[in-house]
Amino acid sequence: MTTTQKTQTVSTNPTMPTVFVCRPLPERGLAQLRGLANLKIWPGPLPPDRAQLLAGVAGCVGIASLVTDRMDGEVMDATATLKVICNVAVGYDNVDWRAAKARGVLVTNTPGVLTETSADMAWALLMAAARHIPQSAEFARAGNWKTWEFDKFLGRDVYGATLGIAGFGRIGQAVAKRAAGFGMRILYHNRNRNEAAELALGAQFVSKDELLRHSDFVSLNMSMNESSRHFIGVRELALMKPTAVLINTARGPVVDTAALTEAMQTRRIFAAALDVTDPEPLPYTHPLYALDNVIIVPHLASATVDTRGRMAEIACANMAAVLRGERPPNVIAELAG
Ligand code: DGY
Repeated sequence: MTTTQKTQTVSTNPTMPTVFVCRPLPERGLAQLRGLANLKIWPGPLPPDRAQLLAGVAGCVGIASLVTDRMDGEVMDATATLKVICNVAVGYDNVDWRAAKARGVLVTNTPGVLTETSADMAWALLMAAARHIPQSAEFARAGNWKTWEFDKFLGRDVYGATLGIAGFGRIGQAVAKRAAGFGMRILYHNRNRNEAAELALGAQFVSKDELLRHSDFVSLNMSMNESSRHFIGVRELALMKPTAVLINTARGPVVDTAALTEAMQTRRIFAAALDVTDPEPLPYTHPLYALDNVIIVPHLASATVDTRGRMAEIACANMAAVLRGERPPNVIAELAG
């Protein structure tokens, strides 16, 4: 990013409030704000740095933030008129909701809209890791395909295997739904047992350790909070089957990166497929990239044209409600009371 990058102020009507939009969002979202507010849009594709963010939000009543934009007390204090932070994501670990609460600022997210798309991604990674898809495609592209090899790129069967889902909210359940077509046994672990979902999906509630011990595929689908940090570490990796595959589409810090690196270097488990990392982005020099049993994609779980468009619509609908003096529909649970 160059320091000369400037925000675009789409309209400047002194009678209207101003909102800061941390990246150009699809017009189907932004259209809802035109006529209600002046829009200061950070041009991206990289996020504004700290100074740019602090300068950008000054004088704004709302901020539309992405998961890359840290919304803490300092940002909130950079604009005395702030009423709402609309995160364009279902996760909001980038927003200090306690700081928002203390300042009377609302925080909204985009629940529901990306459930199926994110579950598709967990499955795409599961299948890709089980069958070495990126590695073998790269092998063929590089001109290494000389013959049909009996024992090259041998993977793991998905059909009939045991799928362990950690975090059985909307996305975890959508991951489970897809397993029916693969004749899988489904185990899940969650803070609370959900008997209705168990019945509907044929899933079995187990302890965390049982899930890790018995699953062929472990899909992480919990939200990020103090209790899910390093849910997977040295102890947990040691419990997993040596043939198991770990899939993380939740948040990077749910997995202890150092422990995972060591486990993958020593081939403690069969494969790991990560949509999210800690830190994020993972520096390209990180040893995980050098391993043929690890797949890393750059936080793409919700990245389809339709879903990203709908996320923008929902985030902007939340913002528009506040601009009209209404309660936004998707206030996060911690502030909803
Ligand atoms: C979310 O919505 O939390 C995703 O991780 C971003 O797409």
